[in-house]
Amino acid sequence: MTGRPVVLALKEIWFTYPGRSLPVLQDISLTLPEGTWLSVVGGNGSGKSTLGKLCAGLLVPQRGAVRLPLRTEWLSSNPLDTMVGATVEEEVAFNLLHTGCRMAERALQARVTESLREVGLSGDFLKKDLLKLSGGERQLVALASALVTRPQLLILDEPVSMLDEGSRATVLSVITRLVKELKVGLLHLTHDIAEAAGADMAVVVHKGRLLACGPPGTVFAASHVLQAAGLEPL
Ligand SMILES: Nc1ncnc2c1ncn2[C@@H]1O[C@H](COP(=O)(O)OP(=O)(O)OP(=O)(O)O)[C@@H](O)[C@H]1O
Ligand SMILES: [Mg+2]
Repeated sequence: MTGRPVVLALKEIWFTYPGRSLPVLQDISLTLPEGTWLSVVGGNGSGKSTLGKLCAGLLVPQRGAVRLPLRTEWLSSNPLDTMVGATVEEEVAFNLLHTGCRMAERALQARVTESLREVGLSGDFLKKDLLKLSGGERQLVALASALVTRPQLLILDEPVSMLDEGSRATVLSVITRLVKELKVGLLHLTHDIAEAAGADMAVVVHKGRLLACGPPGTVFAASHVLQAAGLEPL
């Protein structure tokens, strides 16, 4: 796609869940350069989350080759599913310490504060209770927790589907900026083509197959592709 280093590469992969006869993913190839946002758009059950899990190394394909980065972070639509801290500071610090990073208390707090600043949250958020944040703020904290570990690959599975329209726009604009600033590769999984409009590249997946791949403006202008994949046009 570009001359930049590739953080993720899949070549002709096939995946079937154990005990099932039909493959959930068929002959999928894609590459993701650093600093690039790739949206995978598909309807319910099309195979998006399965593809994300393969890219995170949580599932292994039966056929094909995968090249994965050393450090990947994953975010879902409901960050509370995976959050372990009580406060914002605890949550972000935990993720950093979990990677084996050791630092003095003050340096740790400075790193956490810096990470919050990157996603547009002030130091006032440090001591806040995660349960008292708005959905959008909580997703930004989850993003800060993910990015504090400096992953090469960030996988976002329906990251704004539970947010109101204003928070969606905020979170998406922060993601767009950080992908470029931090040169992280972003694999974004969604059923909503509006969410994918800001991506560098988009692929449409249906019944485990890639139907189209290209710049979002081109891919989403092909009404026959959207129709075949059962996706709502813009
Ligand atoms: N653990 C599992 N075991 C067996 N089949 C599964 C498992 N997880 C998902 N599937 C099946 O694999 C197919 C793809 O599911 P997947 O969750 O990857 O799709 P998706 O595009 O993320 O869907 P959604 O829009 O609902 O999130 C579906 O038919 C689903 O029922
Ligand atoms: Mg899914």
